[in-house]
Amino acid sequence: MVETRERLRVGFVGSGFIAHFHLKSMVGVRNVDVTGVYSRSAGKRQRFADAVTEFGLGHCRTHATLEALLEADDVDAIWILSPNDTRLDVMKALHAAKKAGRSKIFAVACEKPLARTVAEAREMVRLVEDAGLNHGYLENQVFSTPVLRGKEIVWRRAASTTGRPYLARAAEEHSGPHEPWFWQGDRQGGGVLSDMMCHSVEVARHLLTAPGAKRGSLRVKAVNGTVANLKWTRPHYADQLKARFGAEVDYRNRPSEDFARATVELEDEDGNDLMIEATTSWAYVGAGLRIQLELLGPEYAMEFNSLSTGLKVFMSRAVTGSEGEDLVEKQNAEQGLMPVLEDEAGVYGYTDENRHMVECFRRGETPLETFHDGLAVVEILMGLYMSSELQRTVRFPEPALETYVPVVARPR
Ligand SMILES: NC(=O)c1ccc[n+]([C@@H]2O[C@H](COP(=O)([O-])OP(=O)(O)OC[C@H]3O[C@@H](n4cnc5c(N)ncnc54)[C@H](OP(=O)(O)O)[C@@H]3O)[C@@H](O)[C@H]2O)c1
Repeated sequence: MVETRERLRVGFVGSGFIAHFHLKSMVGVRNVDVTGVYSRSAGKRQRFADAVTEFGLGHCRTHATLEALLEADDVDAIWILSPNDTRLDVMKALHAAKKAGRSKIFAVACEKPLARTVAEAREMVRLVEDAGLNHGYLENQVFSTPVLRGKEIVWRRAASTTGRPYLARAAEEHSGPHEPWFWQGDRQGGGVLSDMMCHSVEVARHLLTAPGAKRGSLRVKAVNGTVANLKWTRPHYADQLKARFGAEVDYRNRPSEDFARATVELEDEDGNDLMIEATTSWAYVGAGLRIQLELLGPEYAMEFNSLSTGLKVFMSRAVTGSEGEDLVEKQNAEQGLMPVLEDEAGVYGYTDENRHMVECFRRGETPLETFHDGLAVVEILMGLYMSSELQRTVRFPEPALETYVPVVARPR
């Protein structure tokens, strides 16, 4: 039996947008200290360590190399929060350090998507298991407070008396990512489909899965996807991207999709047909990030919209000030009637996600979402890209997905 540790000492790989979001959420997690950080620039590492001190989350040492973080004697687990094209190298370094007996790390959590292709995702799974590490896949929407509460009520009250849910709809949309690497298909792995559909298909699958049932209880039968360029290839907006991010983001000549839609056909253990409908876009200009979720069954329906907040503020045109993201993620305005999420880290799922991962790692238990789930998500995403490229439905299992690379991610 694995002995339960009193506290988990976490090291962060990456010190950007999501690292700070995770850190903020850790304030609501018990039995955890954030004891280390590695990213390439000393300034960002220090800013992150200062934030750890400010939140009272422990003494965070900054490490100038990844190896130093992996070999630190005060780090039990790492959270991989660096860009998608760095994942595999981080995992290879951790695997090598573990195999050589240089690292005491026993668990790792990795942000979405687990990898850019099925081949990369499979290698992530192989490395983590060969190194004997406990592992978690960081899909926050599975832990978002409306999903936790809504799924619990629907399955306990409605599904138990009238039958299982059969349709889940999920949408995530905003006005476009904040760093250039997201827009570069080869670095990120694709466009909005890879970046955001990973959330939608996994939260929808989770809502359709009976509480406590394993991932294998639902089988993917077929996927159908469409991708499109709706906004950012228009010359005015392509030029805007170049001016903001530099020549490496060239949407006149090398765009990635800014819209994607998907249907995923599944089957439960009794042979019932289930359906996921998902849409994602980087072309939505509303108040800010909008997550919309629905779960439908024979006698019930659940819905959630992250911008239909209870709290709203109105600011007249006389209220002026700098642009910010202080009301809602990917905020687009500072005037008028604005929705405010009073606890973004909780509603988006980071707090419960990190609480779950910390408790599982401390106790030596398997998390609800592991690298295997991350791999299954990547298989669906690649199926959707292939469907869009071939303009037909892709039936699972599809052996060609093992080596498939989305068109926009292929070498120039
Ligand atoms: N769950 C969600 O909703 C959500 C939201 C946003 C992002 N994400 C995911 O989180 C990951 C990071 O996204 P982000 O928005 O935080 O990006 P970001 O703001 O660009 O931050 C990336 C961070 O990684 C560091 N970094 C870059 N190369 C590195 C390397 N080789 N080794 C170690 N650190 C490196 C950067 O710092 P230096 O420049 O100092 O190296 C920076 O701190 C992505 O996989 C993304 O898909 C998830």
